[in-house]
Amino acid sequence: MGHHADYSEFSAQHDKKELLQQVVDSYKNLSEGQTNWVCNLANCSSLLWHCYNEGLSKRVNWAGFYVLDPESQDQLILGPFMGKVACQTIKIGRGVCGTAASTQKTQLVEDVEKFPGHIACDGETKSEIVVPIVAEGRVVGVLDIDCLELNGFDKDDQNYLESLCQAIGETCSWKN
Ligand code: SME
Repeated sequence: MGHHADYSEFSAQHDKKELLQQVVDSYKNLSEGQTNWVCNLANCSSLLWHCYNEGLSKRVNWAGFYVLDPESQDQLILGPFMGKVACQTIKIGRGVCGTAASTQKTQLVEDVEKFPGHIACDGETKSEIVVPIVAEGRVVGVLDIDCLELNGFDKDDQNYLESLCQAIGETCSWKN
């Protein structure tokens, strides 16, 4: 690995499981000795963006994070991401992100039109996956990935993204 940017290389020659494992491994390498969540989630957003758009040729239009708002614990606030400008705050229990946070369960949404209360930050989004990030038993944020196609994500995505979010929960300091 010559430069940090080399971590963003995801070769279309690899299969889906290998590419998703590469995201998890790269995240773990990059977060070694680094507990700042802004720093770690910023690089993680880049890993996910390049993995899906280049490695997997999946039309992902948003990949990033909402974290618990330190000013108001009943809502999530926008964190590091790749993609277009997005909603700034989401109430816990509202939308796909708020539901993942309130239930502590991954939301795999094949068609956003069919998810009651889905919050459309971008009208182009067709499907979405949101994975809660839990640290010491409480939700500290969520990972959200949006796709321009229906059925953009499946159980393999869910499994690897849950491993990733577990690593995120363990590696970052969530004090602020
Ligand atoms: N669709 C999400 C809102 C976040 S944006 O997609 C980036 C939701 O319903 O919670």
